[in-house]
This record gives sequence, structure tokens and C-alpha cells, in this order.
Amino acid sequence: MADLSVTFVGKKLRSPLGVASHAVLNPGVGDSKAETEHLKKYADIAVGYVHTPFICPEEEHPKDKPPAWKFMSIRSREPFAMEGLLVATEAARIMCRLNPGLSMIETLREELPEDVAVIANMIGPGADPEGWADHCEEAEDAGADIIEMNVSCPIPASEARSVMAYQCGEMTESAGCLLGDSPALLIPVVKAVVDRVNIPVGVKLTPETGFPRIIGMAEEIKKAGAKFITGINAPITCGPPDIYKGGQGKWPGLSANPICASLGPWDRFLLYRNLGVLSAFVPGIELTGVGGLVEPEHVVEAMMLGARICEFSSGLLWKGTKLIEESLTFLSNYMDQMGYKSVEEFIGLGVKYIQPVEELDWRNEDFLATVDDRLCTRCGRCANSICSARSIMQNPLRLVIDSRYCIGCGLCQAICPENAVSIVEQKHPVIGVSLEK
Ligand SMILES: Cc1cc2nc3c(=O)[nH]c(=O)nc-3n(C[C@H](O)[C@H](O)[C@H](O)COP(=O)(O)O)c2cc1C
Ligand code: SF4
Ligand code: SF4
Repeated sequence: MADLSVTFVGKKLRSPLGVASHAVLNPGVGDSKAETEHLKKYADIAVGYVHTPFICPEEEHPKDKPPAWKFMSIRSREPFAMEGLLVATEAARIMCRLNPGLSMIETLREELPEDVAVIANMIGPGADPEGWADHCEEAEDAGADIIEMNVSCPIPASEARSVMAYQCGEMTESAGCLLGDSPALLIPVVKAVVDRVNIPVGVKLTPETGFPRIIGMAEEIKKAGAKFITGINAPITCGPPDIYKGGQGKWPGLSANPICASLGPWDRFLLYRNLGVLSAFVPGIELTGVGGLVEPEHVVEAMMLGARICEFSSGLLWKGTKLIEESLTFLSNYMDQMGYKSVEEFIGLGVKYIQPVEELDWRNEDFLATVDDRLCTRCGRCANSICSARSIMQNPLRLVIDSRYCIGCGLCQAICPENAVSIVEQKHPVIGVSLEK
């Protein structure tokens, strides 16, 4: 039986799977007891850690801001299918207030097994280093094992006042990803927190810090003493306008089209970018995978790109605890099948393959597309001028791939709806592979 335990920032966890920080994961927003019970349910199925939702320094939930948010899923027709989930909300409406947040930490730490870490997701004191240090110290005193600085939330950053603050350079109140994308403001804050608390500190990054700036940012965060980087939080976007209603929003019950956050499958490649490049260029800081992970296999992919632990967020909205159960079973079976005794054996395995394109050995002449005639329906998609080497010719009887021109690029394989194309290594040169029905 595979050993799923992993050591993360010096703490042994019973598994590398966790629950992301998520302020709307249960019906109990503002009800810390309901939220705590909800997180304990995940701990019962062997997650290695849980996060609190973002905890702000304010004591009281503002009376004029009752909880509110809108969700919308974006789908295209086949073959594109599910694209992602959008959410619009206002930070003040969903933030976890200080005292309920601290009591959530206390209860979770008392009731969860020792090898399930409680990660406090902290947000809020603008760009004030001492304010951040005080805030995070409260979480440590309440029993948190690890501090995760949420300097990446898309929600406060997409408010009008943040945009104005950014435009006029008055960034002292910056919150969310506006702070996390500003090294001059962020690094003193990280240093102050690291100096103050005695538990490991990490920074949850925003995908708004793109490549290659993310590398410099991560180096600075590491130098400031943070032990890990979580990434990514949700990117900021704008919903599609309703093309049949004069461009208004398509949100349930809203004609407006608010600046919003995007979640789910399409975030995954922003996460992989961060994991891949940070593992390759900023070794020595641990990484947490979150963002677009919605299938059990994604966890292994993220870990091979260097994540030591991985968490689900919007995937849990679709599948709940089942996603974690399935992923744990998958991980265990996968490790047995591959002969991995511990997760350490595959963490980071993919990093050595991350290479700049100019270093690739393209091997154009060694690979060739072949078509399985039993699967090919002669739909013509691959023959319709997508082949840069013009090597696919279609006639009613046969599809010909001419090895003199085929460079094994894989495009025809990628767009074939029937999975009829394979790219094979040609041991011996072949002129014109033809497959007839
Ligand atoms: C409604 C909602 C609330 C969230 N609340 C938090 C939060 O409190 N703290 C945080 O760091 N991230 C929060 N997130 C971001 C998630 O933890 C995660 O980074 C993001 O959803 C991307 O992962 P996904 O693509 O798997 O959904 C929230 C996301 C959503 C949709
Ligand atoms: S796209 Fe696939 S199914 Fe369609 S013609 Fe090409 S190989 Fe055949
Ligand atoms: S692999 Fe590329 S070059 Fe070869 S047939 Fe397919 S699309 Fe053309």
C-alpha cells in the first residue's frame, strides 16, 4: 500500500491533498461553526490539510453588506465543452471576520488529527507591514500551523477604489492581488510577518503576475523568508456579453457585467506555468498547487511540476467530497501501479523536462502521423488546410499522409474528433502511408 504522507514546510501531513481556501464552499458564510463542521467533513476523508477562508482584521460584518455573489458557468459547444466558472462578489460581503476566523482555527486545531494541518488564509491590512504582522500573529496564537498570506484575491482588487488607488499611486490601502502584484509593497509585508511569527509563512500568488515577472517576484518572496508559494488564486476577467441583449451581462438576475473572477478548468495552465517556471528557475521554495485542478490525474501532474501539496477549490463545488475520495484512491492505485513507494519519488519529476524552445531537438524526420482507418470517419477536419506540410489529402476512399512532408507536428492528432491519428516514430523512412477502408 502506497504511503501518501508528505512533509510540507517541515510538517508531516498524512496526504498531499487539501481543501483550498474558499469563502463560499458551504452555506454557512458568516457562520464559523457551520464552516468548521464543513471542513471537518473533508478531514474525515483523509485530506492532509484544510484552509480557513480569508480572515480579515475587521471584527464586525458590515450590516449594509449581507452575503451576496453570483455564479455563471461558461460552456462552448463540443469539442470545446466546459471552459470555466465565473464568480462576481464583493470582498466585504464574504470575508470571514476576525473572531469567527480565530475560533475556527482554534476548533479545527483541537479537533483535527495532528497530521492534518490548519492553514490560516489571512488578508486585509492593506500594505501595512506591522498590521500584517499583528494580524498573522493572532492566527498563530489561535493555533494555526501555517500562515498563508492571501495577497492574490481578485475580488478587492477589482473594486473601483482599488483601480483608482492604482491609477493615482496611492497604494497604501491596496488589497488582494493589487498588493500581491506590487513587489515594492509586498516584500516589506512578507518580511514583517516572517519576522513576527514562529510558524511557516507562505504567499498565495495571483496569476495577474505573469511570466517572466513571476520569477523575480518569487525570488524576492524567498529572500524575504517565506517558506512556500501557493499558486494560483483566481484570475480577474469579465463575463461574455449577451449578444442578443445589446451586450448586457449574462449573470443570473443582473444586467450589469461586473469585473469578476474566473475559476475551474481553464485556470490550470496558469497554475502549471507558475509551478513549472518556479520549479525550474527558483529552486528552494516549496510550492502548493491550486487553480484549475479538477481531476485526480491533475494532482499528479501538478506534483510532477514541483507542487508538494495540492488542493481543490471549484472542483469541490461540482463534486464535493467525492473528488477528494476519488483522488486519494487514484493516487494510491497510481503509486502502486508505477511502483512509487512515497510521493517524494515523483514530486518534481517533470521539472528537468521544462526547457526553452531553442534547446529542443525537434526530430522532424523521425516522427510521422498515421491514421487508424477503423476509427477515421473521413470527416475531413484534418484535411481542411490545417496541415502546414500539406501532407493530408482526402478522397472518398482514403486519407493519405505523405511522409515526405509530414513533420510529426501533432496538429491533426490534436483536432481529430475520433482519436484516429497517432504520431509514431518511424524506424524506417516510409513514403506515403495510405489507409483504405
Ligand atoms: C467563491 C470563492 C471564494 C474563495 N475564497 C478564497 C479565500 O477565502 N481565500 C483564498 O485564498 N482563495 C479563495 N478563493 C480562491 C480559491 O482558493 C482558488 O485559488 C481558486 O478558486 C482557483 O482554483 P480553482 O480553479 O480550482 O477553483 C475563492 C474562490 C472562490 C470561487
Ligand atoms: S480528423 Fe480524424 S476522423 Fe476526420 S478525416 Fe482526419 S483522421 Fe479522419
Ligand atoms: S502531424 Fe502535422 S505535418 Fe504531419 S500530417 Fe499531421 S498536421 Fe500534417
